[in-house]
Amino acid sequence: MSEPLVRTERSGPVATVFLNRPSVLNAISLALMKELVEALEALDAEEAVRCIVLTGSDRVFAAGADIKEMASAGAVEMYLRNQFAHWDRIGRVRKPVIAAVSGYALGGGCELALLCDLIVASETAVFGQPEVNLGVMPGAGGTQRLTRRVGKAIAMEMVLTGRRLTAADALAFGLVNRVVSVDRCLEEARKLAAEVASRPPLAVRLAKEAILRSFETSLESGIDFERKCFYLLFASEDQKEGMKAFQEKRAPEFKGR
Ligand code: HXC
Repeated sequence: MSEPLVRTERSGPVATVFLNRPSVLNAISLALMKELVEALEALDAEEAVRCIVLTGSDRVFAAGADIKEMASAGAVEMYLRNQFAHWDRIGRVRKPVIAAVSGYALGGGCELALLCDLIVASETAVFGQPEVNLGVMPGAGGTQRLTRRVGKAIAMEMVLTGRRLTAADALAFGLVNRVVSVDRCLEEARKLAAEVASRPPLAVRLAKEAILRSFETSLESGIDFERKCFYLLFASEDQKEGMKAFQEKRAPEFKGR
């Protein structure tokens, strides 16, 4: 039996998914992407899991899509592969996903981190979209999600020159949430995940959906969507419990109902 390309660990309400193709720096092959989507969707459906951490190793997050798998493909073959359908499914995971990034997050690796809701980076993290050096351009959302995250100036420079960002740059430009040492990166991401997991799951999920909606819609319809989600939460037991616990000066017990 060969090693799985993706490995999952669970600890209470937090699950960690590891990219596991170390010999090629976690290059994202079609097979790896399929395993990754299946793992994430399974965790999304598992009631006990409330937050997911996605990581590589201390050395590398992912050095991009598998170049060897694409090199000789033609446009029609690439179209028929429809590989981005898998990437789109990652974007539809409803539970919060936190990337823990050490080392290279390049090309599709950077785009994968950008698909996550929060990013904890280590001091060794390097973010980049080097596709231009291969005669192509980002294809898994880089021109869109990176630009929304860091703005036009930085995105243009990264995408047009392939220039990489250090962890400190990534923090300054708002690409990542925090930077910690390599040995604390996964632990810090899991700590953050545990914090999110301790919050009422329905409120967390609807809030994630509303924030993501803000990138797709006008302010007016975004606010309208937010309001509907807000009203909906008053149908939950957790809203009653949260507000009751506040008045009784005790910690709430959220059930996800
Ligand atoms: C396939 C890869 C790979 C990749 C590394 N490897 N990146 N294989 N696809 N993206 C393989 C190398 O071929 C090598 O295998 C092994 O991993 C170790 O890599 P080295 O280059 O020897 O390591 P190092 O010298 O430390 O350099 C690390 C690196 C470099 C700077 C990250 O590997 C690199 O530039 N990789 C490509 C980065 C990139 O261009 N990414 C964008 C891809 S396009 P062997 O067998 O030789 O030992 C993309 C498009 C996304 O992501 C669109 C959507 C899907």
